[in-house]
Amino acid sequence: MQIEVVQGDITAMEVDAIVNAANPSLLGGGGVDGAIHRAAGPELLEACRGLGGCEPGEAKATAGYRLLARWVIHTVGPIWVGGDQGEEDVLRNCYRRSLLVAGELGAQSIAFPSISTGVYGYPVGGAVPVAVEEVRRHLEHGGASLPSSVVLPSSVVFVAFDARTYEAYRRHVGAALGDV
Ligand code: APR
Repeated sequence: MQIEVVQGDITAMEVDAIVNAANPSLLGGGGVDGAIHRAAGPELLEACRGLGGCEPGEAKATAGYRLLARWVIHTVGPIWVGGDQGEEDVLRNCYRRSLLVAGELGAQSIAFPSISTGVYGYPVGGAVPVAVEEVRRHLEHGGASLPSSVVLPSSVVFVAFDARTYEAYRRHVGAALGDV
């Protein structure tokens, strides 16, 4: 298992699958969603129309079209409304379900943006530990209960767009790996 942190644009990542922080319509938006749709081209929107939307905490895949990534896994994060409306559980589900969908597709590498910490307002300091813990837990232990045809990705990249988010990931990934 390999976990990396990079600062940059997720649309430029050379991985099997990138994750989109979408909204329940799956029909595009701003932030990372807008960037992914622009980079993938109009075929992505056409494919998303056929998915029938997505509940918060769930994940659905399309092809990556003009992206370097072969697949886009669209997930819908929680809207932060103070932290006592189950936001953390929904955020955990986004990471868990995205990894599972990636495993079903046969993606060996996957890149995540910082789900919910933009327009949806989830504090970075709370979201980053959830993301790192959830990914580590599933890559280390989550595969045991899966059918043998599903192999979870062995490489995960957290892509932070801004320096503050990048530093938060660096701290938590380092702490999680025990080398900080
Ligand atoms: N690559 C990587 N990360 C990016 C990129 C990019 N090209 N563009 C933005 N980000 C970062 C943001 O800086 C933030 O840290 O992705 C993180 C998530 O922010 P949003 O894209 O606003 O996602 P989210 O908070 O989950 O809100 C989802 O925004 O665009 C709409 O349709 C989307 O309604 C949905 C909502």
